[in-house]
Amino acid sequence: MTGPAPETPDTGTDTDADALRKRALTSLLTARDRTTLLTSCVEDPDLTAQHSPLMSPLVWDLAHIGNQEEQWLLRAVAGQEAIRPEIDSLYDAFEHPRAERPSLPLLPPDEARRYAAEVRGRALDVLEAADFHGTRLTEAGFAFGMIAQHEQQHDETMLITHQLRSGPPALTAPDPDPVPLFTGPAEVLVPGGPFTMGTSGEPWALDNERPAHRREVAPFHIDTTPVTNGAYQAFIEDGGYDDERWWAPEGWAHIRRHSIRAPLFWHRDGGQWLRRRFGVTEAVPREEPVLHVCWYEADAFARWAGRRLPTEAEWEKAARFDPVTGGSTRYPWGDADPGPEHANLGQRHLRPAPAGSYPAGESPLGVRQLIGDVWEWTASDFRPYPGFRAFPYKEYSEVFFGPDYKVLRGGSFAVDPVACRGTFRNWDHPIRRQIFSGFRTARSEAV
Ligand code: AVJ
Ligand code: FE
Repeated sequence: MTGPAPETPDTGTDTDADALRKRALTSLLTARDRTTLLTSCVEDPDLTAQHSPLMSPLVWDLAHIGNQEEQWLLRAVAGQEAIRPEIDSLYDAFEHPRAERPSLPLLPPDEARRYAAEVRGRALDVLEAADFHGTRLTEAGFAFGMIAQHEQQHDETMLITHQLRSGPPALTAPDPDPVPLFTGPAEVLVPGGPFTMGTSGEPWALDNERPAHRREVAPFHIDTTPVTNGAYQAFIEDGGYDDERWWAPEGWAHIRRHSIRAPLFWHRDGGQWLRRRFGVTEAVPREEPVLHVCWYEADAFARWAGRRLPTEAEWEKAARFDPVTGGSTRYPWGDADPGPEHANLGQRHLRPAPAGSYPAGESPLGVRQLIGDVWEWTASDFRPYPGFRAFPYKEYSEVFFGPDYKVLRGGSFAVDPVACRGTFRNWDHPIRRQIFSGFRTARSEAV
């Protein structure tokens, strides 16, 4: 009565889809937990206030997160009608610059929470039913990954707002583990030759990281760790802020005009440097990577040190090139997703870890802390890679390409792993320093 046993049906696709669905779900839930923390640790007046003209009120970020999710997961993916079409323009970042957002008729905190929660409830239903092979938008769960990354990016933005806020601390986190003073080599030689920059196969990589392409890089040396507060203090104490020789002309004009003489949030008290960090004033720790410097300060420090900032291609080669295989990995430590042993990510701590931390996260050439801790300014303007195509909207990357923005790489302690890769590109104006920005330096190999 029975013939041969039927072939086991090919469940490979189902398993992949289940894994993607789970990854998307976890990423969305993780982001929402963080958003909830950042918007529930202060009272309503602190959500609607503008803590700096550089930032939105926290309640704007909250509803904007929900609105982006509605536009992409509910309307674009699932074809649903707008829940509240009249609010779209309030939360359009291009219609209203940050400085004017507090004067808009924004949803009050409770309404913003309810709106974001309603969108999220529907989005999880869309995810439950999603087919990950339908369109480019849903291929490999891209839209869900993009929205989780978008929320995490705004969570970092909200954490910056918390740092700018005055008043008592609202957030706490354990400090990174102490490490012995780093005594390894100060710099690492990265061999010359081509390497693969960018990615075509990373499913949730954003448009500006694509496509993968070959890039020729001449041999160079790069700092093993980010520049520390101690090293930066030596620049200050050597009169670095008073010596025009070290500064790009626009940078010199900028620091004169605004009387900038130290990183943002630092002040001098008698003989020592103090800083304010999330509502606490403390001595500046010498071994920690310097934070809250603008591109001009990073550029000036490097010139003072007889060095320069790495280009974006140099940074990525240091982070991804494996000299054994000649290929590029996803992260400095290989292709595994980031774990707590690799890098200081995800707001586990409210500060960078001391230079030399995370030996398990170093690159094959021995470069440390490329991922996490501080965003690293590079010498490069934000430009498209050859073959770039805007996707799914021009306003994510394309409208920012050009000479007005410098690229930052590697992510800070405030970046979630879902929004961090060896290929991930961030950008900002060269005068900005409220962001969690630091740098490392490089020099060309003498010929
Ligand atoms: C990539 C961090 C520069 O915050 O302006 C958020 C990310 N884009 N919403 C930004 C972003 C749209 C973007 N950065
Ligand atoms: Fe946004």
